[in-house]
Parts: sequence; structure tokens; C-alpha cells
Amino acid sequence: MVYAGAMLHDIGLFIRDPQEPNYLKRGAALVEPMIGPWGLCGDAARDLREILLYNHALVALPGLGTTAELFRRAVQVEHSFGGRRHGLSKGQCQDIFAQYPRLRFNRVLADFFKTTVLDDGVAQLLPIFFPRFVAS
Ligand SMILES: [Fe+2]
Repeated sequence: MVYAGAMLHDIGLFIRDPQEPNYLKRGAALVEPMIGPWGLCGDAARDLREILLYNHALVALPGLGTTAELFRRAVQVEHSFGGRRHGLSKGQCQDIFAQYPRLRFNRVLADFFKTTVLDDGVAQLLPIFFPRFVAS
């Protein structure tokens, strides 16, 4: 399930669906009908939904499941290139980045930000990065 979340958490960036306000919700809407057929239910289904919707939250969300919280933190470690380590040592982060080089990942991040701002609009930055402070 976590692997599915890792593979799909940004899929909404490639979907044009005017019914959803941002890429996180477009991705979640795409995946939602597949959760049952994949055999995910209960906590696993909830964890995948939370990963899809909250992986880019910059601050902790009360009530977020442990799996989605760990995923959210891992995204921060990756995106900050170890600037935020969430308890990992600098050496541990360096080892991981050496094992899995970022290659063109900075370009991917720039494209992600461009898609968000240009396609979804600046107003969507708040619900994407700070969903805790936005009524859903
Ligand atoms: Fe991502």
C-alpha cells in the first residue's frame, strides 16, 4: 500500500479535471474507485487516501494516521535534500541520497510547482501545503 502511495501520490499533476481544485484531489479522485478492487480496506484504505491527500502538508495534521505521517515526513526529507531530517542523521540522509541520486529531481520539483501555481492557482497552495488551516 505504501508503495502504491509512493507511485501514485503525484499522479494528479498529470490529470486535467476541472471538478477537482488541485492535483492532490485529482489524484485521490482517480485512485478512489480502485481502492476496493485492489483489496484495500480499513486502515490500509484510509492510509492510502491520507497519503494521496496530505503528502505535501508542511506541518503535522492532528489525527493523521502514522503511515501517512511517516510518508509526509519522508517527502520533506527528500524534497529538502536532507535539510529537514525528522530524526535521521545527516550521514543517513547523505547515504540515502548517494544510493538513490536525485538526477533531474530538482527539475521535477520545479515543474510540480509550476503546475500547481499556473494550473491550480496560487490559492491552492494553502490547502496543499497547510491543509490543517483550511476547512475541507
Ligand atoms: Fe512527490
